[in-house]
Amino acid sequence: MNSRLTDGAGLPFPEGFRWGTATSAYQVEGATGADGRGESIWDRFCRVPGAIENGDTGDVACESYGRAEEQVRLMARLGTNAHRFSLAWPRIVPTGAGRVEPRGIAHYDRFIDLLLEHGISPLVTLYHWDLPQPLQDRGGWRARETAEAFAAYAGICFEAFGDRVRDWVTVNEPWIVGLLGHQLGLHAPGEKSLAGSVQAMHHLLLGHGLAVGALRAGRGAGREAARAGIAYSLFPHAPADPGSSADAAAAHASDGYVNRWFLDPVHGRGYPDDMLRHWEEAAGKLDFIQADDLETIGAGSDFIGVNYYTRRIVSAHEERSPGDGAWPWKVEPPQPGVPCTDLGWEIVPEELTALLLRLHEDYPGVPLMITENGGIFDDGPGEDGAVHDERRTRFLHAHLAAVHRALEAGAPVEGYFHWSLIDNFEWAMGYRPRFGLVHLDRTTGRRTVKDSGHWYARAARSGVVPPMR
Ligand code: FCB
Repeated sequence: MNSRLTDGAGLPFPEGFRWGTATSAYQVEGATGADGRGESIWDRFCRVPGAIENGDTGDVACESYGRAEEQVRLMARLGTNAHRFSLAWPRIVPTGAGRVEPRGIAHYDRFIDLLLEHGISPLVTLYHWDLPQPLQDRGGWRARETAEAFAAYAGICFEAFGDRVRDWVTVNEPWIVGLLGHQLGLHAPGEKSLAGSVQAMHHLLLGHGLAVGALRAGRGAGREAARAGIAYSLFPHAPADPGSSADAAAAHASDGYVNRWFLDPVHGRGYPDDMLRHWEEAAGKLDFIQADDLETIGAGSDFIGVNYYTRRIVSAHEERSPGDGAWPWKVEPPQPGVPCTDLGWEIVPEELTALLLRLHEDYPGVPLMITENGGIFDDGPGEDGAVHDERRTRFLHAHLAAVHRALEAGAPVEGYFHWSLIDNFEWAMGYRPRFGLVHLDRTTGRRTVKDSGHWYARAARSGVVPPMR
């Protein structure tokens, strides 16, 4: 543990721990028409009347594309040593496959160099939901061709940036893409088909496996250390009644749907049997899974990216009607007395410790990275101009303490990336929810580091999580 700790207070983290912030291209960049960028499914979806709260779009967002340098200086001021961001596929390959746009490559070249000049190591996500629209027109993630186009795009990125980027997240949250984008139609591309969502999730995993193959094939001189993983949306499960075996079974089933369906195949175990049966019953034959797919998907993951926000409390639920997405479980509302974020998500940091230990036990030897963690707290500038968001600071403290407990118990956690660096475009909810360590005034573009950002900076700079008063 960190020997820099001198005052005996606070929680020391290991030397080399990554103190990071996270963003994604569509949520922060804006400049959607600049430098030859092609159309993405989010550009299209934002134009669907009623799809996004308040009619918001990512057209301007945080203007991070044009203000890249300023944004890196902001991170440097915070003293963080790592940053997770995503490459916009439509900036690099505007139509999804084929022609590469040099201006897109040049932009990210410069951004990566700026990060490195400021001692900030990049963790680069290849797919954070902004699929090129031309690929969607040919079936999107329901089509196998998209997984192949993804691998080709990944290869282009490894070639262009792999001399400076060691760590890659291939795909962000395949479950959420399936659920919100393809089953419920709440995210782009706005489809509502249970069977389509299972197909899309399979092709996302296949895309990951093919991209890992491309990364390994491209590991040449100076690139031997390159690593790739998925950032999963992981939800620990709790039975509504801890004494009920029916609720415990329901929680296990839902865990298969949310967590195991993705983790098991990527770690070489194939799809879990209980969920295979469930999907075949609910969504029909999974005949799009081809003979070698699970071998490709199981090529592995060099680290597990953990996006952690809250838990799921589940009770048994008898009604099942195959085909319409009804489940043998029911997700219960927050428990009385448990504090929540402004979106009503329970704040349960102890579940993060348990999750990290479970991953360590179930997939031993695989490094863990908290690729996202954060909460919506809607605080804005007070009369003094500062943002006194004490609840976010407490949230951060509690979750970092939870990570510290997991480290002490032996979980190989390498870093923590707070979602998010800055208030940004929160998908279907538009700009209403505020997740940032930095406040964004969208009228003036002004950025204000919140109190939580100053607090996180102290932790990042010293490697020690300060005690809470
Ligand atoms: C995750 C997404 C991220 C952001 C946070 C709040 O599901 O990966 O883009 O929207 O939630």
